[in-house]
Amino acid sequence: MALVDLIADKKFGRELTDAQLTEFAEAAADLSTPDYQLAAMLMAIRLNGMTERETAALTMAMAKTGDMLSPDVGGIPVDKHSTGGVGDTTTLILVPLVAACGGKVVKMSGRGLGHTGGTVDKLESIRGFRTELPEETFLKIAREVGCCVVGQSGELAPADKRLYALRDVTSTVDSIPLIASSIMSKKLAGGAMGIVLDVKIGSGALMKTMEDCLALARAMCDIGRRAGRQMAALITGMDEPLGSHVGNALEVKEAIDTLSGKVKGPLLDVSLALGAQMLLLGGQAKSADEAMDSLQNALQNKSGLNKFKQMIKAQGGDERVTEDTSLLPRAEQVTRLLAEKDGYFSRMNTEQAGLVAQVLGAGRMRKDDVIDPSCGYILFKRIGDYVKAGEVLAEIHHSPAAPIRQAENMLREAMTFDAVKPISQKLIRAQILPDGKEIL
Ligand code: URA
Ligand code: CA
Repeated sequence: MALVDLIADKKFGRELTDAQLTEFAEAAADLSTPDYQLAAMLMAIRLNGMTERETAALTMAMAKTGDMLSPDVGGIPVDKHSTGGVGDTTTLILVPLVAACGGKVVKMSGRGLGHTGGTVDKLESIRGFRTELPEETFLKIAREVGCCVVGQSGELAPADKRLYALRDVTSTVDSIPLIASSIMSKKLAGGAMGIVLDVKIGSGALMKTMEDCLALARAMCDIGRRAGRQMAALITGMDEPLGSHVGNALEVKEAIDTLSGKVKGPLLDVSLALGAQMLLLGGQAKSADEAMDSLQNALQNKSGLNKFKQMIKAQGGDERVTEDTSLLPRAEQVTRLLAEKDGYFSRMNTEQAGLVAQVLGAGRMRKDDVIDPSCGYILFKRIGDYVKAGEVLAEIHHSPAAPIRQAENMLREAMTFDAVKPISQKLIRAQILPDGKEIL
């Protein structure tokens, strides 16, 4: 069938067959297909939507345009995916904790554009840490240590790579079936048999409403189940950075401090909740309570921290950082941001707070930008705190060349103070459990 006829079918709102969707996915991976035809199809999907069956068929077809891994790690491989937030270091905390409880995690993470680097960039702030490893090496590490975090290989879902780039410039990012198929094509290709999703909601999230978050979470769980994978999803708050540290080396430090038991709070709480679902999917626990107990144990007896140390060593990094975080890159200058007046910290523009890190040099605006691992900031206040004029709101870590005035102004503007205490929001807003039950 000619691609133009496929586009016409979707334009008229007709349901596409599995064969047609496979044709479209293959056309997307074929460099001889013109961008304009792919773009027209993306817009037709954006406007007319897709059924669950269509979405699942497109996703599987996109996954199959590249390598389909089936990692032999001596257990059920489990993975976690977050739709992205600020100060979200859950991966670095839950991956070693889950491994310490017997789980097997092969995590393929993007480098990505954005306010701070991806997980891979964070880990690369550890001297010597290698994220580009041959497949047999990372599988060996996953088998022996229980976890390994590597960069995403170019062969995973090439159709998505092309479509995602086109969506960015054709106003077709905001489509739940397209987001779900984009994310899940890479996850299915990566070979995880149990996948836990962290769908963020709030001022720093891709999705701003509960309705959209639930629709996306359900769509992704549905795709995964149709492909024979076990799925669970949490919808978690992103109304302020999850941890207090934002920036690559700073986030590694916070992860180590958390694994050492020195730091508690929302970052740990979300990491444990996601980790518990991973243990359920991986078969290491029979109930959420049992999973939570194991994770708490791994935290208390430092076996999670020890796993992180083993993983860093196996991936060529300086594992001494787990005992001495001062070995991480440190910024030359620290500038304190002080409160100008008394009041309750009531709201945060978290998207803008993310951009502050980017302005300082923690993230990439273009694909080949070089990241400064040492820069970022530490927040000393959380939403709901009462703040007095002159108190330290944040410590900005930066190089002498960074536009510190701009960063200070942006961070100050991102924080709103009020006379009344804001209503506190739950951190975990909803859950889709492995058996499909929903806790709303
Ligand atoms: N992340 C992805 O990989 N794809 C999307 O479409 C959105 C977020
Ligand atoms: Ca992402």
